Amino acid sequence: MYSKNNPFLAKVTANYKLTREGSEKETRHFIIDLGGSDLVYEPGYSLGIFAQNPPSLVAALCERLKLDPSHPIVQKDLSTKTLNEILLKDVTLNRAGKKFMQALPAKLPDGPKKSEAEALLADAEKLEAYLFTRDYIDVLDDFPGLSLAAEEFLEMLGRSVPRLYSIASSLKKHPGEVHLTIGVVRYTTHNREKKGLASGFLADHAEMNTSSLPVFLAPNKHFKLPDPDKDVIMVGPGTGIAPFRAFLEEREVSGAKGRNWLFFGEQRKATDFLYEEEFAAWKQSGLLTRLDTAFSRDQAEKVYVQDRMRENAKELWSWLQGGAYFYVCGDAKRMAKDVNQTLIDIAVEHGGMALPDAEKHINETLARTERRYLKDVY
Ligand SMILES: Cc1cc2nc3c(=O)[nH]c(=O)nc-3n(C[C@H](O)[C@H](O)[C@H](O)COP(=O)(O)OP(=O)(O)OC[C@H]3O[C@@H](n4cnc5c(N)ncnc54)[C@H](O)[C@@H]3O)c2cc1C
Ligand SMILES: NC(=O)c1ccc[n+]([C@@H]2O[C@H](COP(=O)([O-])OP(=O)(O)OC[C@H]3O[C@@H](n4cnc5c(N)ncnc54)[C@H](OP(=O)(O)O)[C@@H]3O)[C@@H](O)[C@H]2O)c1
Repeated sequence: MYSKNNPFLAKVTANYKLTREGSEKETRHFIIDLGGSDLVYEPGYSLGIFAQNPPSLVAALCERLKLDPSHPIVQKDLSTKTLNEILLKDVTLNRAGKKFMQALPAKLPDGPKKSEAEALLADAEKLEAYLFTRDYIDVLDDFPGLSLAAEEFLEMLGRSVPRLYSIASSLKKHPGEVHLTIGVVRYTTHNREKKGLASGFLADHAEMNTSSLPVFLAPNKHFKLPDPDKDVIMVGPGTGIAPFRAFLEEREVSGAKGRNWLFFGEQRKATDFLYEEEFAAWKQSGLLTRLDTAFSRDQAEKVYVQDRMRENAKELWSWLQGGAYFYVCGDAKRMAKDVNQTLIDIAVEHGGMALPDAEKHINETLARTERRYLKDVY
């Protein structure tokens, strides 16, 4: 049985950009071949991925610390791995950690640099801000001349953790495959280009067509399609679109009779309309009863998915009152909160409810009792 503790080595068989030339985003479509695994997923599941650090970053660190990448390190189970292998696969390198900073003063000779490290450690907020933009190369630039043994350095690092991605495909339409929609994290700090561990690895380094990507399924008990005759309303701006592509593929293949209403938002229609042709074809075929888009930067004023919900509030309320399921996926910090508030406002305006009753209706009755308001937010 494959699991998080026993991941399946899958093949990446496709990796291409969904965003077009001129976009401020780099959102990619990946196809992962699960062939030979017997892994079975439902729409709404996520895929867990164990990524690797960039080889160039590992090489630069070894060079900077004058460490031999082939140095053997004995593991807890008494097996041996090279330093290179551990730095590639087992530890977090794209952000320096507190453990390293805490060990730093003891490794520095008395003097201004040692005092600087101690002062940083004494101020939690400053330390947080310092670490937010720095990896270990940046820290070694700030505190040069540090000398560490390989074992000592490894002790100071945090473990690498897998990343989850909402599955963007239906197994019924793509047997043996998982499709993913991934926003690649890239940024520059201290004059060095950085990337997100997993999104950067998949975009730039994952080998194609070799059984080498460790993956596992993360089921989601609640974020799933209802009975085929029920209506669904899906709100998925940006990469939040992923599970709704899976939902629509599933409903297309299984011939589900319930109506489907999708709200999608991104920066610009010309460059960021993810899966535009697929959604247009589903609108044409009638699988999508409604497709409402909000391109936030195509006009002077921002327009977001919740603005489209408000414009269509009467109809949205009538779908909900008719038993529709409401799904939201994507940004947890701002978007999902604003969508939640919009639902409450719609319940006040079109359901004639007082504010506390509307809040209770949306956040308790719909979300918890009836489980018709479901979130996959991150
Ligand atoms: C259930 C679930 C489903 C998800 N589904 C998807 C999905 O379908 N598609 C998708 O793209 N993501 C999805 N995510 C998010 C995904 O798991 C990762 O968090 C995301 O891809 C970033 O991971 P990473 O390893 O590439 O970047 P990390 O190595 O985790 O780095 C990201 C971090 O970089 C930092 N950073 C970013 N910009 C800057 C900057 N300018 N300066 C300094 N630091 C910066 C931020 O602190 C950010 O937290 C999902 C998450 C969950 C929990
Ligand atoms: N954990 C991580 O490291 C990580 C990595 C990648 C992505 N993410 C998160 O994944 C989510 C999706 O990212 P994404 O880049 O695909 O899309 P996104 O940032 O959610 O952007 C998609 C659209 O939503 C708009 N938007 C911004 N604020 C909004 C709000 N309050 N309400 C509704 N819409 C809003 C954006 O407009 P404007 O941009 O014009 O304002 C854009 O048009 C985000 O939460 C992002 O932070 C996290």
